[in-house]
Amino acid sequence: SDGQRLIIAVDGPSGSGKSSVCRAVAGQLGAAYLDTGAMYRAATWYCLAQGVDLDDEQAVAVAVEELPLKISTDPEHQVVMVGSTDVTGAIRETRISERVSEIATNRPARALLISAQRRLIDESGYIVAEGRDITTVVAPDAQVRVLLTASAEARLRRRGLQLGGTETAEALKRQVIDRDTRDSTASNFTEAADGVAVLDSSDLTFQETVDTLIQRVHQVSAEP
Ligand code: DC
Repeated sequence: SDGQRLIIAVDGPSGSGKSSVCRAVAGQLGAAYLDTGAMYRAATWYCLAQGVDLDDEQAVAVAVEELPLKISTDPEHQVVMVGSTDVTGAIRETRISERVSEIATNRPARALLISAQRRLIDESGYIVAEGRDITTVVAPDAQVRVLLTASAEARLRRRGLQLGGTETAEALKRQVIDRDTRDSTASNFTEAADGVAVLDSSDLTFQETVDTLIQRVHQVSAEP
């Protein structure tokens, strides 16, 4: 490309549709895409595979330091490798979702993953990076900083659709709220920091949310 450097940082809770929205935005812009949650998930997968006690802060830190992680930044082709194992599907399993906050709250592990994320962002230069602390910690200097939110009702509706309506609304509600509570101990993403625009997708369709974010990117790129 023309060597354009533009960082688009997006934070938000689980079930806000953040990952699909960010992947679509990156695809339409021709930018790279980084799913930082996938990195915490891969680190969790690796610790469990190595039999590391997740309560042992030091052991977890050592494992994450040697984690042979490769994550693609192509929005059309998301692959996560740990060594020669393709963990793209495995990191989405419930057994990982249930343990990942133990890695996300481990300070040394977090510091290591944040450094890796900054390197990946730096290498690509034109990228949509999403997570919980991208606008505040990983890339606070990003030109576009957005907190993507959705009401609890909208998120539950989307989760329900995702899970094919096989679980009761009450169980889903508990899942979503529990995840948020555990996640917010690792990073405070529920309130937008200074200079971060809030995009509430509760009453927007998927495409409307994507379009709003792309408009915001175009606004910023047009600024002198
Ligand atoms: O977005 P996700 O569900 O894939 O995130 C997985 C976990 O990682 C979740 O518990 C929140 C945590 N996470 C984090 O602490 N910081 C990030 N930048 C991204 C994810």
